[in-house]
Amino acid sequence: MESIEFYNGHQMPMLGFGTFELTDFEECKEAVKTAILSGYRHIDTAKRYNNEEAVGQGIKEALEESGLTRSDIFVTSKLWLTDFGREHVEQAYIQSLKRLNLDYLDLYLMHWPGTDEARMIDTWQGMEDLYKDTNVRNIGVCNFLPSQLEALLAQVSIKPVINQVEFHPEFTQKELNVYLKAQKVYLESWSSLARGALLRNNLIKQIAEKYGKSPAQIILRWVYQQGIVAIPRSANPTHIKENIDIFNFEIKDEDMQQISSLDKNERFGPNPADYEG
Ligand SMILES: NC(=O)c1ccc[n+]([C@@H]2O[C@H](COP(=O)([O-])OP(=O)(O)OC[C@H]3O[C@@H](n4cnc5c(N)ncnc54)[C@H](OP(=O)(O)O)[C@@H]3O)[C@@H](O)[C@H]2O)c1
Repeated sequence: MESIEFYNGHQMPMLGFGTFELTDFEECKEAVKTAILSGYRHIDTAKRYNNEEAVGQGIKEALEESGLTRSDIFVTSKLWLTDFGREHVEQAYIQSLKRLNLDYLDLYLMHWPGTDEARMIDTWQGMEDLYKDTNVRNIGVCNFLPSQLEALLAQVSIKPVINQVEFHPEFTQKELNVYLKAQKVYLESWSSLARGALLRNNLIKQIAEKYGKSPAQIILRWVYQQGIVAIPRSANPTHIKENIDIFNFEIKDEDMQQISSLDKNERFGPNPADYEG
């Protein structure tokens, strides 16, 4: 599995496994286990997904079965808005670790910027404390607009390594992409498949047919060829295996551009400018 390298020299596998909406304990545990046994080395969860215990159990069972060790897996969780404020961050991190039954995270993310800029900066300062004082390997953010990142970077000493945002062929975040590249902060795509909606798109289906791949593989390969990390989610073992099988073909430039031309510059998720959970 290819990795990206953050500005701090740490690496992150380019394809991970998402766990949003996997709230049934058994289903979530089995999905995470299947993912790791199928070759995924990167798992994405959050306090807000109410599944950290199941994710942790899936990781534990997969490590036992495969002989892999904790350091072979990159695990991300996220700080929810109700835990914002510098003084709450460490406790929220420790609670996530307890639920996951892990002793460190590879990446801890602020889940949203929130609408109060002073609270956002204060919370990031708590993330910086965490990075300096604990064993968290990397800290980053989700759902930050360029203006919110600009405000953050102007006032803090440690940059986020990544911004995890809605990104798929219908919402390609052009302005944010340019800004993040200039700052050497990576973009990570959530809902790369637009929760499955884009798998029914005619152009995606045509290109999939041309390459002899599935629509999901085409979209995930399109994300990967842009140097962007994807974390597709599935509860279906066939889909889980299909989604990681994207490293044996290449989408030609003209088809990459065709897929990118689906961009409507319209998010389906909440707008970070006014989202408070
Ligand atoms: N930071 C944030 O604010 C934020 C927000 C949203 C999501 N995320 C993260 O990003 C991850 C991915 O996003 P997402 O879960 O919203 O959606 P997604 O990965 O775009 O789509 C998931 C949907 O696609 C279907 N699917 C997956 N692979 C498929 C395949 N090969 N063929 C057919 N259908 C397929 C799944 O159904 P089946 O189960 O039937 O396969 C599921 O309904 C999340 O799980 C979460 O970890 C982060």
